[in-house]
Amino acid sequence: MILEFCARAARAYERRTAIVCSSGLTASAGRCIKFPLAKSRETRYNSPMDKKIEIRLATIADYDGILKLWNSEEQSRRAMNPVDDSREGIERYMKCNPNTCFVATLKDGTGDAAQIIGVILTGHDGRRAIIHHMCVHPDFRRGGIAAQLVAKAEEALRAEGINKIFGLVFKDNEAANAFWERQGYTLRTNLNYRNKSLNPAVPQGE
Ligand SMILES: CC(C)(COP(=O)(O)OP(=O)(O)OC[C@H]1O[C@@H](n2cnc3c(N)ncnc32)[C@H](O)[C@@H]1OP(=O)(O)O)[C@@H](O)C(=O)NCCC(=O)NCCS
Repeated sequence: MILEFCARAARAYERRTAIVCSSGLTASAGRCIKFPLAKSRETRYNSPMDKKIEIRLATIADYDGILKLWNSEEQSRRAMNPVDDSREGIERYMKCNPNTCFVATLKDGTGDAAQIIGVILTGHDGRRAIIHHMCVHPDFRRGGIAAQLVAKAEEALRAEGINKIFGLVFKDNEAANAFWERQGYTLRTNLNYRNKSLNPAVPQGE
């Protein structure tokens, strides 16, 4: 029991360390001290694992890996539809928003293509930005990957002159709502979300 706990803690620590080190985010770095196995700052920033996780711009070449990640997660699947989230749909989205979609990738050291373990799609209409389908692989959660993806997207949107971002979150998605709250995305209670489908293959929603 104790051994199992230690192994889980060590795995969580390795994951978190890798992520902290690849971003250098101060807030994340601060969280490392919670772990009893804390390494020195210098060691943390040079662990071999750190070099395996990368956050970079997404391209349509990432589509298969992104789709695999979305399909593995119920919360993402429920927000998808076969038209907008098809290869053609995502390609169109990325062409309109070439600088604001990001993936987190993990290299396994075998030389194979890196696995996509996180994704955020954001885009704008010249005025407001919207966030779509952010997802992190379950094995890498609570390590700061989503926070880094959001930070990257915000930086890119700011660089394009965008002043405000919004996102839609299912009310019963507690993890995501807690996440967005933590990132400073406040809940608007004075608005109703209204939509209309222009294509019978794209559900209107409840
Ligand atoms: C929501 C999601 C993207 C968060 O990814 P993540 O990489 O685990 O998030 P982070 O590690 O960056 O979390 C940052 C902070 O958000 C909050 N948070 C994240 N997940 C949380 C959870 N399950 N419960 C409570 N708070 C949570 C915490 O404050 C966390 O900081 P901490 O770990 O120091 O406490 C991930 O849970 C996910 O992919 N869920 C399924 C898909 C989904 O729901 N996407 C969102 C659609 S809007």
